[in-house]
Amino acid sequence: MIGIVGAGNMAGALARGWGEPVLATDGGSGRARMLVDEIGGESLGTDNAELFRRSDTIILGHKPYQLEQVADHVDGAGKTVISVLGATTLQQLQEAYPDSTVIRAMPNTPVAVRQGVTVIAQGGESAVELFERVGAVFVLPESQLEVATAAMGVTPAFVALIVEATVDAAVRSGLKADLASEIFLKAVAGSAELLLARGGDTLAVRREVTSPGGSTARGLAALERNGVRVAFDDAMSAVIGR
Ligand SMILES: NC(=O)c1ccc[n+]([C@@H]2O[C@H](COP(=O)([O-])OP(=O)(O)OC[C@H]3O[C@@H](n4cnc5c(N)ncnc54)[C@H](OP(=O)(O)O)[C@@H]3O)[C@@H](O)[C@H]2O)c1
Repeated sequence: MIGIVGAGNMAGALARGWGEPVLATDGGSGRARMLVDEIGGESLGTDNAELFRRSDTIILGHKPYQLEQVADHVDGAGKTVISVLGATTLQQLQEAYPDSTVIRAMPNTPVAVRQGVTVIAQGGESAVELFERVGAVFVLPESQLEVATAAMGVTPAFVALIVEATVDAAVRSGLKADLASEIFLKAVAGSAELLLARGGDTLAVRREVTSPGGSTARGLAALERNGVRVAFDDAMSAVIGR
């Protein structure tokens, strides 16, 4: 069984996507119990040592600053330790778990519905199959992980914000919120599929729906006037920490 150290948002999303029983711990909140009540398996409370004893593959889903604190109390010898910790390098992981195979993976929360994106640092190829069960996987040099993660890790939050703003506007113009939300979300998912099918050619897709002098052209111009590109550029810079 896979062992989940820290059954929080990210590791919980992974476990829900895999949909198989797991061993799980938390810091005392009871979230491990809630997770296994949902998908099966066993909560080991806060006993990470027991979790390492009983699992061959362990997902680290606690906060990055807890790396040493957790590693100091477990025996990782011969285990595969997969970290989803933000900003924690392979070198730091290997130092914390010198006798384990360590893998650095960064998934995003849509893994919970098997539509996630996971970037894995080179060297972690053995974990590709596991993460492909919950979405798309890209293996990249570790130096590119931070930027790739920024791009896909924030997507659920950014899309949620765009949906909220659009639904609010549709409500002001007379549509019911739940209907507006359903219509717009389907449109977002379909637009992403169309863009994928067109090889990511954003300009071609945009031109197709933008008639000269038409309403889409007016809407796009309004977005540009309000600095949409600058806003996204600033947002990505903030996420990457530049
Ligand atoms: N959220 C994302 O989209 C995302 C994406 C990629 C990577 N990550 C990474 O995932 C990690 C967790 O983030 P999150 O958003 O999932 O945070 P979170 O919801 O706070 O989850 C952290 C979990 O770790 C548990 N924990 C704390 N101390 C522990 C200990 N000593 N032993 C075992 N479990 C312990 C917490 O327990 P309690 O429930 O008791 O507090 C909590 O369940 C971070 O390193 C983050 O960088 C997050």
